[in-house]
Amino acid sequence: MSALADSVPRTRPMKESDLERVMAIEKAIYTHPWTRGNFVDSLKAGYTCHVMEVSGEVIGYGVMMIAANEAHLLNLSIAREWQRHGYGRSLLLHFVEAARQAEGQQMLLEVRLSNFVGRSLYFSMGFCSVAIRPGYYPTKQGREDAILMGLNL
Ligand SMILES: CC(C)(COP(=O)(O)OP(=O)(O)OC[C@H]1O[C@@H](n2cnc3c(N)ncnc32)[C@H](O)[C@@H]1OP(=O)(O)O)[C@@H](O)C(=O)NCCC(=O)NCCS
Repeated sequence: MSALADSVPRTRPMKESDLERVMAIEKAIYTHPWTRGNFVDSLKAGYTCHVMEVSGEVIGYGVMMIAANEAHLLNLSIAREWQRHGYGRSLLLHFVEAARQAEGQQMLLEVRLSNFVGRSLYFSMGFCSVAIRPGYYPTKQGREDAILMGLNL
């Protein structure tokens, strides 16, 4: 197989055995990471939990809940050393497609006000600001607002 084919990302359902790697990424990129229990609960609840692999290595993942034709993206993460190579956009596109296939009509997500990278990714994919959720996220100093963003599917 060529080196180019090796770098093509592949997505697949997350397994409990992925959680060690997932937690290592999570703890490295967030000030307030999800716990292992949050991922276990999401898997048990039947949420759409998928990982992205490159050459067999998990480099990112996401978690999406779908109910009543509404998809809610709860987590979208790319390992720090794999960021800025287009994988985040590709993973988001994967979840948008999954939401469409599940006949979702709208996709929603929250993003920290200070998360310019995430906001810029979502805006560039057609998401619009829907509302502000005051004090939604914890910070080291206190609380931070979230922007609720939405995409019509
Ligand atoms: C947000 C995240 C998923 C993006 O993944 P990524 O693989 O780095 O992003 P991509 O390379 O696909 O870039 C997609 C777009 O994001 C934006 N972006 C990515 N990195 C950026 C940076 N350092 N500065 C500004 N914009 C950036 C750009 O709009 C970029 O599009 P462009 O390349 O056409 O300019 C990733 O940075 C991440 O996991 N961050 C930490 C966790 C997080 O914030 N998740 C989202 C929570 S809501």
